[in-house]
Amino acid sequence: MTMNIGSRATLPRPPGPSFWQALRAYGGDPAVTMHQLFLRYGEVSRWRGLFTIYLLNNPDHVRQILSQAHPEFTKHLYDYRVLAQAMGKGLVTNDGDAWARQRRLMQPMFHHKVVSTFDQAINAYTRLLATRWHALKAHQPVALEREMGRVTFQIVAATLFGSEIDEHASEMVDILDVLNINTKTPAAFFTLYPWVPTAHNRHVKRVMGRLNYIVYKIINGRRGSGTATPDLMNRLLSARDETTGAGMEEAQIRDEVVTLLLAGHETSATALQWIFYMLSQYPDVEAQLLHELEQVLCGNPACAGDLVRLPYLKQVVQETMRLYPPIWGIARRATHAQVFGGFEIPAGAYISILPYCLHRHPDYWPEPAQFDPERFSPQQSQGRHAYAYLPFAAGPRTCIGAGMAMMEIQLVLAQLLPQFRVRPVPGHPIEPLATVTYRPRHGMQVFIEKRKEAH
Ligand code: HEM
Repeated sequence: MTMNIGSRATLPRPPGPSFWQALRAYGGDPAVTMHQLFLRYGEVSRWRGLFTIYLLNNPDHVRQILSQAHPEFTKHLYDYRVLAQAMGKGLVTNDGDAWARQRRLMQPMFHHKVVSTFDQAINAYTRLLATRWHALKAHQPVALEREMGRVTFQIVAATLFGSEIDEHASEMVDILDVLNINTKTPAAFFTLYPWVPTAHNRHVKRVMGRLNYIVYKIINGRRGSGTATPDLMNRLLSARDETTGAGMEEAQIRDEVVTLLLAGHETSATALQWIFYMLSQYPDVEAQLLHELEQVLCGNPACAGDLVRLPYLKQVVQETMRLYPPIWGIARRATHAQVFGGFEIPAGAYISILPYCLHRHPDYWPEPAQFDPERFSPQQSQGRHAYAYLPFAAGPRTCIGAGMAMMEIQLVLAQLLPQFRVRPVPGHPIEPLATVTYRPRHGMQVFIEKRKEAH
């Protein structure tokens, strides 16, 4: 039960550790720390570290927050200011009317009908990757995070903005990687004050200069070329304000391009890495998945229409993103005082919704630490609270690329898995790290073994 409250309410504040206890937890994995907080203090708790954060792990409360959005719950928060250093006023960091206008403009490019035509490009870039993997020498370790980062970058760049970015793919992946850090670290904090000469600020300044150079070059190249490729870049360039008829500012186009490149590649790449990892740890699941792929596809790559006939593939993706949600935390600012679960959350509070914790809530996920794709079978999914599983958030600010990401991840796997067995290099530590994404702290060094030769 939730409600707005007046200023005279005397309800208790949520429980949580003291500042000093919180301080001692710094340096560990923040997702794990927050999960421990949930187990200890329950669905509504308070974290008093450098910021006071209110953590909500009840799906009804989460529904209330995510379905309301601006102006009741906003993104006017420190984390989004840090992200805005790179993303500017793009869709992730924008808010209010300006956000709604941009979302309306971009939504049609992510309609199911449009996205399902991306299957050709996804398969073509995956084929290039497979060709490279076939040429690898036996026992040559490969950095899976780079392989997945590059292919997902190429896919998002080519499908949304045309092939002009392709020649910069590797460099762009490196640049964007610098910008993907935990927003609560001192390094991230100082990016808000770019004149402070920290090593990270100097690095960010260098990569941002290069990023802007590449993105503006592509925008201007497309403007000058006069071609009207029906992609998102064209839509941004030809957009007109509904009342004034003015075109979109160049800086706004830049912000949307950078936002989509950032939001749209590292997330999918992270999901793919964890899926390969889980399959290496659960050979029975891998065998069942290979069997399904063989039966349905008979050695061919899948196209968008095949995916409905590959239910187990989807379940493996969903279950991996339950345990390793690529976006592990979502933040909102409550503009008014609120009551959640009998506790007062003050006006202006920093609210944290953690897919990582919701996905491990024992009321919705029996034996939450177990990896079991059967949880997502139609029988077991029936009646589950829709807000207990939020890899793509929900409500008006739900991920615009969710459909695209799901299709892309499944198509990449459907093509690669029957050809290659991916196994972590023995001894390489696999440990998650919560940055903006929830990714392997030391990357993922793997051996890639061929199941069969290229055809
Ligand atoms: C597995 C892959 C992905 C995951 C797990 C994911 C997850 C999310 C989540 C949780 C949010 C909400 C963030 C918040 O409210 O703070 C979000 C927003 C967003 N995502 Fe994704 N995403 C993925 C892939 C993509 C792709 C492929 C694209 C685009 C090509 C994309 C573009 C965006 C954008 C633009 C937003 C902001 C939407 C808005 O506020 O209107 N994402 N994503």
